[in-house]
Amino acid sequence: MQIVTSVVALREATRQWRQAGHSVGFVPTMGNLHAGHIKLVSTAKQQADKVVASIFVNPTQFGPNEDFASYPRTEQQDQEKLLASGADLLFLPAVTEMYPHVAQTNISVAALSSLHCGASRPGHFDGVALVVCKLLNMVQPDLLLLGEKDFQQLTLIRQMVADLNIPVTVQGVATVREDDGLAMSSRNGYLSEQQRLQAPMLYQALCAARDEILAGHDDYLAVAGRQRQDLQQAGFAVDYFSICRSQDLLPAGSSDPSLLILAAAKLGNTRLIDNLYFSKS
Ligand code: PAJ
Repeated sequence: MQIVTSVVALREATRQWRQAGHSVGFVPTMGNLHAGHIKLVSTAKQQADKVVASIFVNPTQFGPNEDFASYPRTEQQDQEKLLASGADLLFLPAVTEMYPHVAQTNISVAALSSLHCGASRPGHFDGVALVVCKLLNMVQPDLLLLGEKDFQQLTLIRQMVADLNIPVTVQGVATVREDDGLAMSSRNGYLSEQQRLQAPMLYQALCAARDEILAGHDDYLAVAGRQRQDLQQAGFAVDYFSICRSQDLLPAGSSDPSLLILAAAKLGNTRLIDNLYFSKS
C-alpha cells in the first residue's frame, strides 16, 4: 500500500491508474479505524480496481467546544488495518496540505444541513461538504463509499454530488454493529465501562419504535416521545429522536412508505448517533 501526504503525489498515482484503465473507489475517513470503516474498504475493493482511503481529522467540521483536539489518532494501527483490507493507497494529508489558506468558498447543502445533527452542530455539515468536495477533486474517484451509520451525511453528500454534477457514484454501506447492537464508532472508545453497557439501548429504542410502527401505531410523535422518555430515564441526554421520510429526512406522515428513524443522544460527554430505516409495506 502506497502512503502519500501531498496532493501532487496523490494525483500522480491516480493519474497512472486511470491511464491504465483502472477504476478507482474512495473511502474518506477520520481514522481510528474499526470494522465499519474496513467494511467500506472491502466493499470498494469488490467494485473498483483500485482503492484509495484517506485519513484526515477535518478541523472545519468540529465546533469550538467539540473534540477536534482529543479525537483519537491511531495512525500506526490504522495503516496496518488498511494494508490488511487491501487498500492500494492511503492519503494522509496534514491540515496545511488540505487548507493551505483559509477557504473563502463555503458549501452549504441548505435544507439538509440545518436538520437533526445540523441543528445542534452549527457549521458541521458545511465543514463536511467542503472537505468531501475537496477530497473528491483531489482523488477524482469513480465510486465514493460512505456509511449509512451517518445517514444524514450520506444524504447530504448525495445531494451535493447531484447539485454540483460531480462525476462520482455514491454508494451507501450498511452500518456495522457490535454483537450487542451498538453501532461501531470511533467515539465509542470514550465510553466508560458502565456507559458502554448502557449504550446499546439507543439501537434498542430505534428497534422498539420501528416495531410499534409496524404494529400499527401511526402517531409518530407519540411513538418517538415514548422512546425519548425511556432513554432519558436510562440516563441518556437525548438530542433528537425523529421519525422521518428516508428521501429528505423531513418528518414522516402515516402515508409515507419508507421510513428512517434517526437519533442522537449523549451518555456523559459522548455523543452517540444511530438510525434505522425500513419499509412499511
Ligand atoms: P468517520 O467518522 O471516520 O467515518 C468515515 C466513514 O465510515 C463514513 O462514511 C461513516 O459513515 C463510515 N462509518 C462509520 N462508522 C460506521 C459503521 N459502524 N458502519 C459502517 N460505516 C461506518 O464520517 C466521517 O469520518 C467524516 O465526516 C468524513 C466523511 C471523513 C469527512 O471528514
